[in-house]
Amino acid sequence: MSEEEIYRRKKDKEAIVKLLLSPKLTRTDMVLPIVGRGGMGKTMLAQHVFNDPRVQEHFEERIWVCVSDDFDVRRILEQILLRTRAAANFSTAKNLSFNQLHNLLPEFLHKKQYPIVLDHVWREDSEKWDQLKQCVLQLGFKGESAIILTCRPLKVASIAGTIQPYELGLLTEEQSWTLFQTKAFPQSRLTT
Ligand SMILES: Nc1ncnc2c1ncn2[C@@H]1O[C@H](COP(=O)(O)OP(=O)(O)O)[C@@H](O)[C@H]1O
Ligand SMILES: [Mg+2]
Repeated sequence: MSEEEIYRRKKDKEAIVKLLLSPKLTRTDMVLPIVGRGGMGKTMLAQHVFNDPRVQEHFEERIWVCVSDDFDVRRILEQILLRTRAAANFSTAKNLSFNQLHNLLPEFLHKKQYPIVLDHVWREDSEKWDQLKQCVLQLGFKGESAIILTCRPLKVASIAGTIQPYELGLLTEEQSWTLFQTKAFPQSRLTT
């Protein structure tokens, strides 16, 4: 996915990369929600941030979990654990209980710097969020990690976020048509 593929969102990308790379103290326990309507490019933007060479270089691990409508803390922790590099040498990472995951995760991620992207978060369940945040952010990796989540409802952002959500502004009608055109007819870029 090249930088040219992001239409009118490069500034947004830079702003989020900057936040991720900002000094520890300013992003202690950071949960940054990227908010916007469906199809506005939240996942795309998060992917570009995730794959940015500066981000790749800065963090030892990068973890991407698709949450969708199943906000099951145990499953999310399992996905996080399975996506760590250390899990490759750990054959029994599957089907672990919540408590086992809770105990193992610090071992796998302790003293590492890592951003976690939780894509497509829908649920507005503050209890579950607190549980997840406690597991992921508050087990001794303070300030070393950051969660970016993409979500549509602002309410999710206000429950889950620790800083002001990053709200994606609408493209203008003309920009939307240009984007549509380049997606529908990729070769049109050459002629316009
Ligand atoms: N600014 C943009 N530049 C290039 N492609 C975009 C842009 N915004 C959206 N898209 C494309 O539109 C589709 C939907 O975007 P997506 O990131 O899945 O939206 P969301 O996660 O907000 O629902 C994807 O194919 C994505 O690549
Ligand atoms: Mg999405």
